[in-house]
Amino acid sequence: MSAYGGGHVFYRNPNKSYPTVDRAEGVYVYDTQGKRYLDGSGGAAVVLIGHGIKEIRDALLAQAEKVSFTHGTHFTSEPAIRLAEKLVSMAPPSLSRVYFISGGSEGVETAVKMARQYQVDRGAASKFKVISRWTSYHGNTMGALALSGHTGRRRYHLPLMLHTPHISPAYCYRCPFGSEPGKCGLECAEDLEKTVLYEGPDSVSAFIAEPVVGATAGALVPPDGYFQRIREICDKYDVLLISDEVMTGVGRTGKNFGIDHWSRPDMIVCAKGLGSGYTPLYGVIAGENVHSAIKEGAGNFIHGFTYGQNPQSCAVGLAVLDFIEKNGLIARSAVLGEYLLAKLKTLLRHPIVGDVRGLGLFAGVEFVRDKESREPFDPKMKLNAVIANRAFEKGLITYPGGGGADGIRGDHILIAPPFIITEEQIDFLVAVLDESIGEITREQKLA
Ligand SMILES: Cc1ncc(COP(=O)(O)O)c(C=O)c1O
Repeated sequence: MSAYGGGHVFYRNPNKSYPTVDRAEGVYVYDTQGKRYLDGSGGAAVVLIGHGIKEIRDALLAQAEKVSFTHGTHFTSEPAIRLAEKLVSMAPPSLSRVYFISGGSEGVETAVKMARQYQVDRGAASKFKVISRWTSYHGNTMGALALSGHTGRRRYHLPLMLHTPHISPAYCYRCPFGSEPGKCGLECAEDLEKTVLYEGPDSVSAFIAEPVVGATAGALVPPDGYFQRIREICDKYDVLLISDEVMTGVGRTGKNFGIDHWSRPDMIVCAKGLGSGYTPLYGVIAGENVHSAIKEGAGNFIHGFTYGQNPQSCAVGLAVLDFIEKNGLIARSAVLGEYLLAKLKTLLRHPIVGDVRGLGLFAGVEFVRDKESREPFDPKMKLNAVIANRAFEKGLITYPGGGGADGIRGDHILIAPPFIITEEQIDFLVAVLDESIGEITREQKLA
């Protein structure tokens, strides 16, 4: 219980007792008891540049002194214009317009509606379906949850949701087609073509995927060739490819966008890290074809949120991207990501660590009851949370998750530290995980 009491806050987990945060600096968060935590997951893959950076505070204050809010139907602003220009310069060349919003789920729904309106306004009104993948997460609002492929998060609200087509994930450690990396025919990508044909190409508007799956599976990196093949299928059937970069966006995987490792999308939804925790700010980056179809079609994008494009958040986003550029943080994410992955791989010596994977400073550790059969633990054990809680007690913040194996079973921990993390801090992070996994294995007699 906090020093301020439980009070009237409706917590996500009302049965949990949360420490009260006091302040944060660099990669560290401090609670009101003075305990220090290394932010090994940037919250939930949010904090890219570290906490308490003076340049961001200065930019925030400077903008607040001028103007914090005007509505997007009345004004544009210099920060919005400059931030859009900056993002477009970082995005693949065919993308040229940015629509700002203040949440990832909002961003996913914006992209889906943009795709739909593009199809209607260019004269392909029969195209409306959006295909997504199992073992994916696209957000918790009703539309975004319908696209998400995570049974545990969906099933409570299922009666309220639209039913949309899902294809198999690109999950090499648990290949849904029983193949092995390097020896397969990319059946997971071919599944898109099959599904487009079953659904009817004339009805399919878009395909949405996370380039590297985050929340539901712990940094699932697709096999080489996967997104190249997905691109070909999308082109063949006139389907827009939406890259959901809410977690991978802006440098997390060591390139500007996760999809840059393999292919080019028609739209990018980005990113928790755009505001780096200093403000809720996301953007959908779209191609000129989408923008001009809407401009010349309905003339208006029939969509919008009150806080989208507010000058205050855009000024913060601009300062975050400037800080990333000035300090070469994307290259740092690539280099330190390799260090992190090599260190995390030492955890494979634990009998319950089945897989360690990642790209850039975005990594996952998957737990299994049996390494040979890859059988997951009983979800009632909540093993991912038990290990994460032990690490938290020891001063390390991680992002645990479950359900990767079949929607309900499967345990992993996601690691996504701020890009300013050092090798020594990574050593601490891995040592705490190592200790926590070892202790839980012994205490619960898991081996
Ligand atoms: C890939 C992806 N898309 C969408 C979302 C939803 O973002 P938000 O929680 O800001 O609505 C998340 C959140 O974790 C995500 O990881």
